[in-house]
Amino acid sequence: MTAPQPSPIARHYRQDDLLRKIDEALDRLYPGRITLTTDELHGVDEFHTGGHAATRQLAEHLELRAGLRVLDVGSGLGGPARHLARHAGVDVTGVDLTEEYVDVARRLTDRVGLADRARFQQGDVTALPFPQASFDRAWMLHVGMNIEDKARLFTEINRVLTDDGLFIVYDVMLLGDPTLVSYPLPWASQPEHSFLARPREYRSLLSKAGFEIVAEHDHRSQTVPLLRDAGDARHRNSTPYNPAGGDTPPASISVAMGTDAPAKVASVLQNIEEGLLAPTEMICRLR
Ligand SMILES: C[S@@+](CC[C@H](N)C(=O)[O-])C[C@H]1O[C@@H](n2cnc3c(N)ncnc32)[C@H](O)[C@@H]1O
Repeated sequence: MTAPQPSPIARHYRQDDLLRKIDEALDRLYPGRITLTTDELHGVDEFHTGGHAATRQLAEHLELRAGLRVLDVGSGLGGPARHLARHAGVDVTGVDLTEEYVDVARRLTDRVGLADRARFQQGDVTALPFPQASFDRAWMLHVGMNIEDKARLFTEINRVLTDDGLFIVYDVMLLGDPTLVSYPLPWASQPEHSFLARPREYRSLLSKAGFEIVAEHDHRSQTVPLLRDAGDARHRNSTPYNPAGGDTPPASISVAMGTDAPAKVASVLQNIEEGLLAPTEMICRLR
């Protein structure tokens, strides 16, 4: 029997040797060190346009306290999940489609000593492998752009949350004409694999899935300077895109974006500056 083929989305993210590349990047920064801190991974392990500042800000909106069970929907390399486990003392479960990302997330979590509080498993977030009411909180950072069936996604998230649950979506949303959006983008190299939706579509789908949106934030003013700095750094031919900012390690999420990372970062910036896209946060409660 042949093994199931990864979906086009998982193929977009998969590199086959990402674990080795990340280990090498970290070895260059911290020679001979096996154990690291979550701070030392900033810039390497958060795969969204807002970098660590946005992770911190979103975490504050999750109303966390020690012991709560949190679901990270599309957890990537696990940076945001580890931030919650480390700084809020919560118990985090990350689910991601891309097997290789799950492997890297587990490896980095071991290296920062958080394996007892942050777990990762492969899965499709439109069919979550958890019983009803398994989590007190959920967040989803830059994942909806890969998901065509957002109605099913939000219904699934609602199902696994407790009645007093809170859910934060932080996605790049569509503001302008979709035919003008330029590619490649960090989440899709071509339009066929990108499922951008407008804020009003998110609101409507979230509401139909049983959520009430209690707050909404446009993150463009926070994101644009980070992306511009990344572009300037490329022109100076110095450090690659480092969304954690200048005083943090010169390793970068570009490692996970592959060889065309500069083109992906340049396109996302251009689309945002042209008013076509906006990183947007929606904070939702169960109705
Ligand atoms: C841009 S990355 C964001 C990762 C992470 N949330 C972060 O902010 O660092 C998008 C992630 O969504 C995952 N993904 C896309 N579609 C998915 C699906 N249907 N189920 C689970 N994960 C999915 C990808 O594998 C990838 O890791």
